Amino acid sequence: MQFVIDADHESLSRRAAGIIAAAIRAKPDMLLCAATGATPTLAYRRLVEMARGESLVLACLRLLKLDEWGGLAMDDPATCEAYLQQHLVGPLAVPPERYVAWDTMADSTAECQRIGRYLAEYGPIDLAVLGLGANLHLGFNEPGESLYPGPHIAQLSESSLAHPMLSVARQRPTCGLTLGMADLLRSREILLLVSGRHKAPQLAMFERQRISTHCPASFLHLHPRVTVLADVEAASLLEIPQ
Ligand code: GLP
Repeated sequence: MQFVIDADHESLSRRAAGIIAAAIRAKPDMLLCAATGATPTLAYRRLVEMARGESLVLACLRLLKLDEWGGLAMDDPATCEAYLQQHLVGPLAVPPERYVAWDTMADSTAECQRIGRYLAEYGPIDLAVLGLGANLHLGFNEPGESLYPGPHIAQLSESSLAHPMLSVARQRPTCGLTLGMADLLRSREILLLVSGRHKAPQLAMFERQRISTHCPASFLHLHPRVTVLADVEAASLLEIPQ
């Protein structure tokens, strides 16, 4: 596992965008799994700028939504759908046939099966861009006695329900819809983005390299190709030399 510590959120985001762009160049029909939340927003903006300024071929790029708030209407401004439409799907002009996304209005169990079938047939994920949850979750793989390997309906923790994304929600989510740990660990490459002083305790806990279902992100230590991109504030409690 490689830790890269950047000076600030801007340089972390530029680096992340560069890594995503390089992956697209290497494999234009790659399957990009994208997290939402505050952390990757600037990286996506820088990626969109790169795509506009350079000859980044996006004609075959496939995009997979990591997770979603169950129970919110698809047009609710708090959905991961609204976020991805605004930050990636729209600006990168990803057409519906190359965008794989949880539909909150469909039957949730059927949605899990549909996403699972897609990954079985067209996976694995080439590059997963992930964020670190306040409770060390990945997607909505919430800490607990056990974790789920495949796409599943998650019972959301109070920590997840306190996520700032939900401040604009028209209603409270009833569950989470998320890829499972095996889906993520089968990714060819994983980028974990961690930014801000408020994530320093979580990143320090992650760095301890103890694997536990109570710390879903810790399973990334089993993966051969993970890059952790953190900024100095998030890395302020790390023990690794900076
Ligand atoms: C949310 C999402 C995750 C996201 C994480 C971190 O709950 N389910 O996909 O990566 O929490 O969010 P943020 O980047 O806003 O801290």
